[in-house]
Amino acid sequence: MTEKWVQGEVVDVKHWTETLYSVKVSAPNVEFIAGQYTKVSLSINDQEVARPYSFVNSPNEDILEFYSVSVPNGPLSTAMQKLKEGDNINIGPKGNGFLILNEIPITENIWMLATGTAIGPYLSILKTKDSWTKFKKVVLVHAVRYEKELTYQDTIRDIKDQYGDRFIYISYVSREETSTSLRGRIPKDIGNGVLEKEANIQMNPNNTHVMICGNPAMLKDTTVELKKIGLKKHRRSSPGHITTENYW
Ligand SMILES: Cc1cc2nc3c(=O)[nH]c(=O)nc-3n(C[C@H](O)[C@H](O)[C@H](O)COP(=O)(O)OP(=O)(O)OC[C@H]3O[C@@H](n4cnc5c(N)ncnc54)[C@H](O)[C@@H]3O)c2cc1C
Ligand SMILES: NC(=O)c1ccc[n+]([C@@H]2O[C@H](COP(=O)([O-])OP(=O)(O)OC[C@H]3O[C@@H](n4cnc5c(N)ncnc54)[C@H](OP(=O)(O)O)[C@@H]3O)[C@@H](O)[C@H]2O)c1
Repeated sequence: MTEKWVQGEVVDVKHWTETLYSVKVSAPNVEFIAGQYTKVSLSINDQEVARPYSFVNSPNEDILEFYSVSVPNGPLSTAMQKLKEGDNINIGPKGNGFLILNEIPITENIWMLATGTAIGPYLSILKTKDSWTKFKKVVLVHAVRYEKELTYQDTIRDIKDQYGDRFIYISYVSREETSTSLRGRIPKDIGNGVLEKEANIQMNPNNTHVMICGNPAMLKDTTVELKKIGLKKHRRSSPGHITTENYW
């Protein structure tokens, strides 16, 4: 029988903002497919508190990485924010979830839409070769409230350097004006064609698969807009164009 947890050791914590941080963990024998999540757990006041977290690292990288936002009064995310190098953290030994490329039908372009920390699983996927052998273009769209929350810019630059015009990165900042990001929300800009125009690619049922991850309200509103242009939910039993993962 597989053990419930493997013990990991924190090797680094990067604080991007007052609320956003990434935890790097050394842990033996954790297996997953890029895009999946596992459970992460800490003992808080003698109680085990466990939550799902997506892997940001690719399966080829030895050190595990999790990207988190500390949610006000959130038990695990506020405790994880206080972790220091050398602390222990329990990690589920196997990945779960269907936000993975093996589950996606063959098509021309893949769109990866994220709010907040849900950019994590896409970075894991984009560090593997699969996105670049299966699709012509990969569009990563990251929506955050404030510009400082557009994290992992170095990783995104590395991917751009490697794949050039095949990789399109579009950012949204909803609560302040910026010079480099779109203002507003993803679903509205699917409805009015702004997102397609920005990417310079049309979205239609013959050339598109869309992965959506993060805020459940964004998933719901985006799915409504995609259905209007003929895309439908993907299921193994009935292939479609939309794959989703709610973070809460
Ligand atoms: C499949 C899956 C994968 C996940 N992967 C990640 C991940 O990689 N990174 C991550 O930060 N979280 C991720 N989450 C959410 C994570 O499991 C926790 O819920 C979150 O870290 C907060 O934990 P908590 O114990 O502090 O508060 P909880 O009691 O778990 O959550 C309290 C409230 O916080 C809000 N919330 C929870 N998660 C987020 C979030 N990520 N962004 C904004 N608001 C949120 C919701 O309103 C939720 O009801 C994932 C969730 C699922 C289901
Ligand atoms: N971000 C912060 O500065 C901050 C600070 C302290 C605490 N927190 C807490 O941390 C948690 C996470 O915040 P977060 O900013 O990472 O995540 P979030 O609330 O999910 O916001 C991320 C992005 O998703 C957008 N969004 C929300 N609902 C949407 C919808 N229905 N359709 C399309 N887009 C939608 C937001 O736009 P809108 O801006 O238009 O909603 C924002 O651009 C929350 O519990 C929050 O209270 C956040």
